Amino acid sequence: MNSFCKVWINGKEMEVDPERKLLDVLRNDCKCKSVKDGCSEGACGTCTVLIDGKAVKACVQKMGRLEGKRILTVEGFSQWEKEVSHS
Ligand code: FES
Repeated sequence: MNSFCKVWINGKEMEVDPERKLLDVLRNDCKCKSVKDGCSEGACGTCTVLIDGKAVKACVQKMGRLEGKRILTVEGFSQWEKEVSHS
């Protein structure tokens, strides 16, 4: 079993401890502050990100289940995506 799992966060390849939670990696390693910790139990949705294009709550995702996945936060949006999301 690998001691790290490989994911892509906002287009950047990363290797992380599979036991860590996605929300922790996003906020503390990637400095993605658009992703908030509102309840830590999958109820409020303030931690929602896109994983392979699907909306998922980051606070209930362990990195070990995300091997090979592409994770996108608001910080990884293109300029056009940022503009249309604010209109
Ligand atoms: S922090 Fe509330 S659903 Fe994730």
